[in-house]
Amino acid sequence: MSKPFYITTPVYYMNGAPHIGHAYTTVAADVLARFKKLQEEEVFFSTGADEHGLKIQRKAKEAGKEPQEFVDENVARFQELWRKLDIDYTKFARTTDPAHKQAVQKVLQDLHERGIIYKGFYEGRYCVGCERFKTDDELADGKCREHNMIPELLKEETYLMKMAAAQKELLEKIESNALHITPEKYKTEMLSFLRSENLQDVSISRKHVSWGIPLPFDESHTTYVWVDAFLSYLTVLGWSGDKNTLPAEWPVDAQIIGKDILRVHATIWPILLMHLGVPTPKLLLAHGHILSGGKKMSKTLGNVISADEMLEKFGVDGTRYILMSAGTFGDDLDLTMERMTEKYNADLANGLGNLVSRVLKLASQLKAPNSKLPTKQFPKNFLDLLNDYKLDEGLKYIWNIVSEDNKYIEETKPWELVKNDKAKFEEVIQKLLKDIALIAHLLQPFLPETSRKIETALQAGAVEPLFQRI
Ligand code: MSP
Repeated sequence: MSKPFYITTPVYYMNGAPHIGHAYTTVAADVLARFKKLQEEEVFFSTGADEHGLKIQRKAKEAGKEPQEFVDENVARFQELWRKLDIDYTKFARTTDPAHKQAVQKVLQDLHERGIIYKGFYEGRYCVGCERFKTDDELADGKCREHNMIPELLKEETYLMKMAAAQKELLEKIESNALHITPEKYKTEMLSFLRSENLQDVSISRKHVSWGIPLPFDESHTTYVWVDAFLSYLTVLGWSGDKNTLPAEWPVDAQIIGKDILRVHATIWPILLMHLGVPTPKLLLAHGHILSGGKKMSKTLGNVISADEMLEKFGVDGTRYILMSAGTFGDDLDLTMERMTEKYNADLANGLGNLVSRVLKLASQLKAPNSKLPTKQFPKNFLDLLNDYKLDEGLKYIWNIVSEDNKYIEETKPWELVKNDKAKFEEVIQKLLKDIALIAHLLQPFLPETSRKIETALQAGAVEPLFQRI
């Protein structure tokens, strides 16, 4: 039996409501998961919540709530958004899950016994937004590049995880694509980092943060995000922390992440696994940031575009389409409501919606419309794009057919043919029906609801308008 395809999103911080940055990652993972399922692969798709750490502890306090109550509420908001966005995940990971906490403690105990985790002292700049100490090259004018804030200077006792001994092996894994990082520019970036810097041991615990998992060998410390959250990729599969019994889905096939957390995913995470003797991920798929006003959109910066506003305006598939077609996968995307509305009108209302309704209207004048759906196969070029994780190009491939067909209608003028050349009319409409069935088929991973609507309309021979102009 072949191993299920295992794909993950990050586990998101539960310090507030989700926004379209999180939605971007999760929709992309959902598209890939659906694509794999359509190729008859068994898929395990996990997303989830990262619930510990200082940032969340502080936010809960500000809201006058207990941390657990606060994260429970935010988990519900994320899950609600995933439901609205038609995200078909297999399991939702939570780092406050007791089974997860137990597994993390088991791992920490083991690493401590083997001297891989040791007590030390750390002095450095701690960014609460990132929930980690930042190195000098990660700061610009003394500020964290991600959060535009001066990190707090901390001097404290901490437990550290050894990194240096694993650096060479890690570098080789990335060079040989045993740990594949894509798009290529991110692999290059990681390689040059690993070739030029010596990895420092990383702090894995905090002494004065109560909202975390207590270290089993020193309960005055808690561990949090980096270690805790990473291990959720394993515990969500039911892993108990026993390195000799790994879940059937392991190793993970694709981990989709924003570029902000690439470096930790390409260093701390695989090295943690290597220490445990557990196989490393096969692929890290990094994407760029959604910018708003030229800056990374984030709750910490307070410049978010609301997912609910998008959903209200564009609907579920409109939102999925706008996010996935917003630009080259891997690059930063600068979005504004205005540009998104233009795109919605041009590509969905006028492009696809118009094509489907025109063709079905014309087809109602045929004696026997051919509404047979094509086979389950995807055309090779389309397959290549998706297998290469070029999601935006996959959509372009489909929209090429849409605009070619709209052009074809203008050129052949079927409304005239129906009066003076019945045979040609028949030929033109059959071709268009076949194309629309293909479009519906190709849309499945991206816009599942629209795909179903078109398939139903083809059977019924009539369609409600798919996307209303706004
Ligand atoms: N909790 C950590 C991840 C731990 S994974 C073991 C974390 N959480 S987060 O809530 O900040 O989410 C970060 C991820 O959300 C990014 O990697 C990216 O996938 C997504 N995005 C958050 N803001 C984003 C943008 N503005 N643009 C695109 N995606 C971004 O980091």
